[in-house]
Amino acid sequence: MKAIAVHPGKPGSIHLEDIERPSIDAIPDGRGVRVQVLRVGVDGTDKEINAGEYGAAPPGDDYLVIGHENFGRVLEVGPNVPDTIRPGGYVVASVRRPDSSIYGQIGLQDFTTEDVYYERGINLLHGYLTEEYVEDSTFVFPLPGTLSKVGVLLEPTTIAEKGINHAFEIQRRLKVWQPRRACILGSGTIGLLMALAARLRGLELTVFSLPQKPYRNAGLLEELGGVYISSSELSLAQVSAARGPFDLIMDATGFSPIVWEAAEVLGKNGVLVLSSITGGDRKAEINSDRINQSFVLGNKVMVGTVNASPADFRSGVDDLIKSEALFPGWLSQLLTTPIHGLENYDEMIRALTEDHDTIKVYVEVAENGTG
Ligand code: BGC
Ligand code: ZN
Repeated sequence: MKAIAVHPGKPGSIHLEDIERPSIDAIPDGRGVRVQVLRVGVDGTDKEINAGEYGAAPPGDDYLVIGHENFGRVLEVGPNVPDTIRPGGYVVASVRRPDSSIYGQIGLQDFTTEDVYYERGINLLHGYLTEEYVEDSTFVFPLPGTLSKVGVLLEPTTIAEKGINHAFEIQRRLKVWQPRRACILGSGTIGLLMALAARLRGLELTVFSLPQKPYRNAGLLEELGGVYISSSELSLAQVSAARGPFDLIMDATGFSPIVWEAAEVLGKNGVLVLSSITGGDRKAEINSDRINQSFVLGNKVMVGTVNASPADFRSGVDDLIKSEALFPGWLSQLLTTPIHGLENYDEMIRALTEDHDTIKVYVEVAENGTG
């Protein structure tokens, strides 16, 4: 069967690979799930993998099948698979797999302490940009039929979910933390999904990002009841004076200097969540004393977040359902750029790297007959 693959470390090596159809018997103890891939979203991680900057092939292979934002339909299940996952149902599989760190043993491989991590479609494990995959049901999450159109957004949603779920988890230490104001930095796919997650938790929403209005994503954020402010109009300090103080700030800009400005304006007892994977070596001058003192006197928290746990996949499904109820059609508007068929991988990469007017580029791997 066809798969979109790269030769990791070799820039621009994206190609079609002919791989073997997987068998459900590859998964032990009858926990196998065989899935027909319907849609796969792509993001900056895939772009970096094709640029040769990131990613590794599974041991013994010289290629890596890419694609981690998956959505598919169950074809076959082993005898030990819970009955929440049955043929015909929609599922999304998670990305990271347990390694020797103890966190994996309790289902929190997103907290591994190992330097080498195993992620399908990214590092050392093949991904989902292919026709079928098999997976252990432990790592497969069922979605209701009502999410057939937008379910491909679940994996990026889980990145936002982990960030906000952990902000609340950390603040249980305060017994009565009642955040009121959230500020999201960045208005790309993750920024939009963070804004949605914050809004669905009842927070006043401000989004601070580079582009100036008129700007489609600003309109989308306003549909959520948020206020969009361009960094070309106001500084973050001015935004905080007008709309803050912020109890929760979440960064998804990819621009690390903004983090120190955010640390400076974060409200008392506030949480600053960082999610940008910044591979460069940018340096910034910061108001070190002021930031340090405000963190001490204000009991503030800065926390990094990567990947997501099963709980974040489950809350992600809940939030996609809630979003469709409260903001019908909003999620579909993020699906700006469909690519038809695995053979159009060139167009996929072009849309990902050159087209700046996209939100989510995704491959329609197969027709969704029943959706
Ligand atoms: C993926 C995450 C992954 C991270 C680091 C992101 O693009 O969505 O699941 O943990 O890259 O590799
Ligand atoms: Zn990703």
